[in-house]
Amino acid sequence: MLNNRGIFIAGTGSYLPEKVVTNTDLAGLVDTSDEWIQTRTGIRERRLAAADQPTSALAAAAAEQALAAAGVSAEQVDLIIVATLSPDHQFPNTACFVQKRIGAGNAACFSLEAACTGFLYAFEVAVSMMACSAHYRNVLVIGGEKMSSLVDWTDRTTCVLFGDGAGAVLLQRDLERSATLLASRLGADGNLTDILQVPAGGSAMPITVAVLEQHLQFLSMNGREIFKLAVNAMVSAAENVLSECNLSIDQVRWLIPHQANLRIINGVGKRLGIDNERVFVNVDRYGNTSAATIPIALDEIVRSGSIERGDYILLVAFGGGLTWGAQLLQW
Ligand code: ACO
Repeated sequence: MLNNRGIFIAGTGSYLPEKVVTNTDLAGLVDTSDEWIQTRTGIRERRLAAADQPTSALAAAAAEQALAAAGVSAEQVDLIIVATLSPDHQFPNTACFVQKRIGAGNAACFSLEAACTGFLYAFEVAVSMMACSAHYRNVLVIGGEKMSSLVDWTDRTTCVLFGDGAGAVLLQRDLERSATLLASRLGADGNLTDILQVPAGGSAMPITVAVLEQHLQFLSMNGREIFKLAVNAMVSAAENVLSECNLSIDQVRWLIPHQANLRIINGVGKRLGIDNERVFVNVDRYGNTSAATIPIALDEIVRSGSIERGDYILLVAFGGGLTWGAQLLQW
């Protein structure tokens, strides 16, 4: 990053809906078991949003926490970026609904879609916009998802994997401080759009009765293919940002991987050679909340006091697109 001096995370927040759904609960819905889900994914339970809680409601709750942590009022926010693949509507963008919910009437707003890598993309975009313009002094970057609205609750191969939630950070600039984002490496492979997607509901396949009958409005994926590609993509992006900063994995306080599956997380940790206790895991409690997993994890680490100024944090993610990325932060 060339001109990101002084851009730092002034506050974090997260929100998980109250309703807890266990693996055993799901076994009453589809042909599955707690044992199968835990062994294959590490997930024990997930949170599901209420019918009257769209993604913007989860995102707004996380944003309010980040603002409170930073001691900033909603009116002071200049920009809101929401990374999501489960927007409230096709348009207007979800950040506008967040703006209305929190009362951030002075903020520019847009949403960004890069599936589970969305927060990393949004974070780099936010830092870049701040680096380009002094106008952006208080910037909310949010990853929020209501995955339960995209999941086919009759498909056991996908419905057990996902959950709802949101995480947020508030970025500010203080030239007395060093930059938080030290290096970023984002990638994508558009040849693999079909292995993880929601086939219908966009301009390529508008909703029709036939679409609904075939459940094409829901998420579909080739889990095995994703599994193979995910570990390689994340490890290589992580190695790139470490070498760009001349750091070794031993110097990293926390690896925060996208929380999709414990076996993928363990695979990445093992390949990078980092001790398990420095690999953050909460997939057991929340499942895969897509673009929200990384900011939720960051907030949990901050609130538990397990991070100190100067610590290095390595973020790695992958998702539909395929998209992937790694970022090295210094707290
Ligand atoms: N309960 C019981 N059995 C199941 C379930 C379930 N919930 N789901 C699938 N099975 C069955 C299958 O039908 C199959 O049965 P069969 O052998 O009789 O055909 C068997 O279990 C094995 O299925 P696989 O798909 O081969 O199981 P696998 O070991 O690959 O695990 C899993 C599946 C957990 C999905 C794994 O592949 C995975 O985690 N992949 C990565 C997926 C992922 O991370 N997706 C999110 C990407 S992020 C984003 O952008 C949204």
